[in-house]
Amino acid sequence: MSGLYEQIQEAAAFVRRQWQSTPVAAIVLGTGLGSLAADIVPEVVLPYEQIPHFPRSTAPSHKGQLVCGTLAGRPVVAMEGRFHYYEGYSLQQITFPIRVFKALGASTLLLTNAAGGLNPRFRKGDLMLIEDHINLLGDNPLIGPNDERLGERFPDMSRAYDPTLRQQLQQLALEERIPLQGGVFVALPGPSLETAAEYRFLRTIGADAVGMSTVPEVIVAVHARLPVAAISVITDMCLPDALAPVSLPEILHAAQQAEPLLRRLITRLVATLP
Ligand code: HPA
Repeated sequence: MSGLYEQIQEAAAFVRRQWQSTPVAAIVLGTGLGSLAADIVPEVVLPYEQIPHFPRSTAPSHKGQLVCGTLAGRPVVAMEGRFHYYEGYSLQQITFPIRVFKALGASTLLLTNAAGGLNPRFRKGDLMLIEDHINLLGDNPLIGPNDERLGERFPDMSRAYDPTLRQQLQQLALEERIPLQGGVFVALPGPSLETAAEYRFLRTIGADAVGMSTVPEVIVAVHARLPVAAISVITDMCLPDALAPVSLPEILHAAQQAEPLLRRLITRLVATLP
């Protein structure tokens, strides 16, 4: 049985055999946001099941393939479909691809997700730049023996979301006239959505948006010293005193509505990356 480090090297070597570019960015496409991959000029598309040690994607609307190609003329890798804790994976499995991207030489990680809005000033369809997070998954991807080759035992989280990338995204949003909210993202395991009492609690502790992903990937990116930025699409409003039922089709529909703006923002960012 090879260790985590060796598994990462094996997966990266597999990708590199078919695609020799060094990605300027690795992009993770969240629920309902997969069509962003259509902007990428594909060079190699790898179904997850072909990549050594990659988990398989089971979530609805997640395709389960790694798209390697160019966006705005720059080499990128994109995950069409991510892994969630509620699918039954360990957080170490969920974050395996992030470590492979680091091994491939990616210099930036861009994460997207569909999230519920807790801040009453938000509207369904808004984009929110994640400024910080609260981990309520009850778990952490770094639990277990630490391999110093991957990162340090106690990574500092004071600037988890790269300040330079955040500033660039805010500037580009201004230039493109794309409204961009900012706020704190809280991660819960799901898969059930939250109760009104839980939304009240989440708002009280300082969260602006809630979702079931992203936080494990950010923790591992910080551990790997891979600069990361993350954007939520607010797909439904989670206001405890005016809570309306929400279904997956509604969440997917809202994500698809907001997607063109997100695509433009990410494409502009990739074009400006060093
Ligand atoms: N909770 C509530 N609403 C949501 C979520 C969530 O985790 N994700 C997308 N909309």
